[in-house]
Amino acid sequence: MENNNYSTFRSLSFLMFSYKLSCYKISRFLIFSKGVTMKLLVEPRFDLYVDIITARAKSEENVIQLQWGELAAKPPEEIVEFFLEGYRKGKIRYTAPQGDIELREAIRDKVRKKNRINVDVDNIIVTVGGTAAINFVFRIIAGDGGYIIIQDPSWFGYTGIANYVGARTMRILEIKYGYEEFKKAYEEVRAKGGELRGIVLNYPANPTGYVFDTEIMREAIDFAEDYDILIISDEAYEDYVFEGEHTSIGSIRGINNVLSVFTISKTYAFTGLRIGYAVGPEEIINAMATAQVHTYISPPAINQYVAMRILRENLDRPFVEENLKLLRKNLKIVRDFVYENSWEMVEPKGGIYAFIRLPGIKSQNFALKLLEEEKVAIAPGVDFGEKWTDWIRITIAKSEEEIVEGLSRIKKLYARWIKPPCTC
Ligand SMILES: Cc1ncc(COP(=O)(O)O)c(C=O)c1O
Repeated sequence: MENNNYSTFRSLSFLMFSYKLSCYKISRFLIFSKGVTMKLLVEPRFDLYVDIITARAKSEENVIQLQWGELAAKPPEEIVEFFLEGYRKGKIRYTAPQGDIELREAIRDKVRKKNRINVDVDNIIVTVGGTAAINFVFRIIAGDGGYIIIQDPSWFGYTGIANYVGARTMRILEIKYGYEEFKKAYEEVRAKGGELRGIVLNYPANPTGYVFDTEIMREAIDFAEDYDILIISDEAYEDYVFEGEHTSIGSIRGINNVLSVFTISKTYAFTGLRIGYAVGPEEIINAMATAQVHTYISPPAINQYVAMRILRENLDRPFVEENLKLLRKNLKIVRDFVYENSWEMVEPKGGIYAFIRLPGIKSQNFALKLLEEEKVAIAPGVDFGEKWTDWIRITIAKSEEEIVEGLSRIKKLYARWIKPPCTC
């Protein structure tokens, strides 16, 4: 009898518990389905068409993905061992906020030799991709509403980061970069009651593949010294230069007013490693380390170890040469195709993209339709600046077949776009 009572009690308790749990779930559902009503200072959405296109492209099958800045090649095989080695060596803890010292030493040697920038480990910070370095430096120099000059067109990361950290951007056509234009911008900003704090030089550029010549770099340094401005030299694509060698601005007159940003992502086709680094004046590096420690303490230790081994083993050769061969071949295909069809493109001097003009399109609508009807994903020009509404960016770091097929499908849609089928 007692046993019976006990089991009835247990059944009742269980029923009560289930009932309470359901009530709790329903009430939570009701609370959350109403949506958050508080004011959010960062909007919970991406405002780039390329993000919308990527999300859709990834959920569909058989899409030719030419929209994203990733090389199709697989990173060098040796890297697999580096991960295991890192784990065995106990690279499983936080590192110094500036990054692991062994990696910073490897970076010091790399930038001294390859970039001819004469720095020491105190001038170096390792970050989670070049993106975090740009984020921290924008915040540090212009997070109070200061202005930063960016190229037009330019990588959407700069405007996105500036909006997030409270900085403002001012665009100058990249072909117009020079002392006089910077001075004009400086005065324009002053007239608005603002302050100019930085100039971004991205070379080879995303999306145009533009490379600044050393004369322009000297003018940028002169201006930065005269007006106490920081040059943010984004050299993410340093290894993909089609003619001659990459020249780092920091090699010209030192790094007094220069912060150079580099990344493992593009050189080694390894965007997922999320290791980048910046080289610059010690006070800026220390301020960036403060930002970093309060964001995620340090970049992942094991990934830093892998990056160190990659740099020490000089894995960029012959890997980069192979990629460059493919890029040059694909660029020729794209160029021939563009001119055969009387379209227009910027002749890239480096990088991994082709920036193409299709007169008469509205790039975001074209890109969405292209994905829907032809299963090709591209980045619409408008993401790189509102002036570029009839331009598109495609990556040329894909297989030859994907480039040829992608272009032919773009052509098909464009033909329908400018000459809609007759409805008579
Ligand atoms: C111009 C430029 N800079 C920086 C980055 C950031 O790359 P990551 O954060 O992967 O190093 C990118 C990525 O596409 C880029 O295009």
